[in-house]
Amino acid sequence: MCGITGYLAKNAPQFVISALKMLEYRGYDSAGIATSNSKITIKKTLDGIDELGKNLKTKGNVAIGHTRWATHGKVSLKNTHPFTDCKKRVAIVHNGIITNWESLKKKMKNHKFSSETDSEIIAHLIGEQIEHGNTLLDACAKASKKLKGSFAFLAIEKGKKEIVGVCNESPLIVGEGDKIEGFSSDINAFPIQIEKIARLKDKEIAYVGRDKIELFDFNLKKQKIKWEEMEKKRIRLGEIFEHHTIKEIFEQPKVIFNVNMNEIKNAKKLLKSKRIVILACGSSKHAGEIGAREMFEKLKKEVKIEDASEIDYSPVRIDKNTVIIAVSQSGETADVLRVVKKAKGKGAKILSIINNPYSTLEKLSDYSIHLNCGQEIGVGATKSFLMQVLIFKLLSGERIDLKILSRELSKTIKGNLSRIKRISKWMAKKRDAYFIGKGKWKWAAMEGALKLKELSYIHAEGLGSGELKHGPLALIEKNSPLIAVGDNDSASTWNNAYEAKTRGAKIIGIAPRAQSFFDIWLKTSARFPLMSAAVNEQLLAYYTAVANKINPDRPKNLAKSVTVL
Ligand code: M6R
Repeated sequence: MCGITGYLAKNAPQFVISALKMLEYRGYDSAGIATSNSKITIKKTLDGIDELGKNLKTKGNVAIGHTRWATHGKVSLKNTHPFTDCKKRVAIVHNGIITNWESLKKKMKNHKFSSETDSEIIAHLIGEQIEHGNTLLDACAKASKKLKGSFAFLAIEKGKKEIVGVCNESPLIVGEGDKIEGFSSDINAFPIQIEKIARLKDKEIAYVGRDKIELFDFNLKKQKIKWEEMEKKRIRLGEIFEHHTIKEIFEQPKVIFNVNMNEIKNAKKLLKSKRIVILACGSSKHAGEIGAREMFEKLKKEVKIEDASEIDYSPVRIDKNTVIIAVSQSGETADVLRVVKKAKGKGAKILSIINNPYSTLEKLSDYSIHLNCGQEIGVGATKSFLMQVLIFKLLSGERIDLKILSRELSKTIKGNLSRIKRISKWMAKKRDAYFIGKGKWKWAAMEGALKLKELSYIHAEGLGSGELKHGPLALIEKNSPLIAVGDNDSASTWNNAYEAKTRGAKIIGIAPRAQSFFDIWLKTSARFPLMSAAVNEQLLAYYTAVANKINPDRPKNLAKSVTVL
């Protein structure tokens, strides 16, 4: 996944740099900017957006920018966007994957390519059309028809005060304000000056000229623009938080109030279906695993759950009697979207649990329950995971007093904070950690391990506690951190933890009641032990990353949404 943006405004490059900072969560391997005056000027960097903004000529009315999560071609300046055609007449930035780039490239023998990316082909295709006398808009339309795959791209032409934006299966939004027009991959990256926005549909092209925005299909047939007033709630890091991740962890006692009970009530009707299959990846999958167990326990409903990238190889049947519950914070995870499209083709209904209401998954769904927890910028899922678990509990019929839950989550944070900061310094020196639990707690353990590894780069394994003695126990040595999660019914997990302690492990127990053998106890709420445990795990992972001087908002090699298969 990458972030793209572009502006037609006075000091456009400055708007692009500010927007790229907000888009950086989408990929931060490298970044670049192109401006158009009498010639196309390009600057690229591997050192972050602040570096890109340094000594940048801020004058100029047309600029496009890109922040990259590398897919085709390693992280290097030559593979960094923007790309130009051979004659440097046009520059483009692209988000998505062009699947037929190699066959197109073979046909363009007289072109000199400068990168290993799939994206560069777009610049050459447009350049060729400009060479034949087409306008930038015509050239983009003709080029788009030749492309296969997912793409949102922006193109500018030397000496022209215009930007063309093309959308197909990757998000692109056009925005307009007073003396400013522009594009963004994400609504939150628009500056305050943008007053209204329109989301492009697949196979649409937006033309932005001075005081003029027009929308077309790929045949250049004019389309009506559906403007929406720009929401004014924009995400900024407050004074008191050093990172988005900790800000988002602290927001949890508040955001739970945003759960929409009407949506839950309406969605319950879909649960009457014969077959329910939950589909998700990463943390959303862990929430789904917990949800499947809650539904089985409380609704006596058999629910299948599959990792979206594995479903093709699993014995799960999908047909017109199936409701797919697609769980995705971003609503852009390619693995999930692929299966959802396939399932729709077989007549299945799609119920999504989703944070981003502007996402592709939203468009594909028959009904959506929204997390409503505000944009999550930290790459590690925190508040979105908690909201997903909460929604599954409510869907399963659990009655939850949100005021009490909020109070309990605040108590968890305040009560354990200084202890967690202390343990994190110890944890930061470790190479490996083990998280164990049973039943739905196994998935709380898996989530704890995922959080620790992705934020702090410490190898962490999450497993069902009973599995420990079938192999992993061989790895336990003196002072190995073993984090056991459970509630007052978790006697067998505590037994398994004790077995590890006997072999030297240091036990961190995350539970409502302490066991005598716990070396460290992180107390959880007795009423909401699972959600309270998740918050403890998040804090542990966050402060361990901080102790290791790692930026937890931007773990290396990752991106906030994974839009590649
Ligand atoms: O946007 P999604 O919920 O579909 O994302 C799924 C995973 O990519 C995501 O949860 C990922 O595992 C996070 N980095 C976990 O913190």
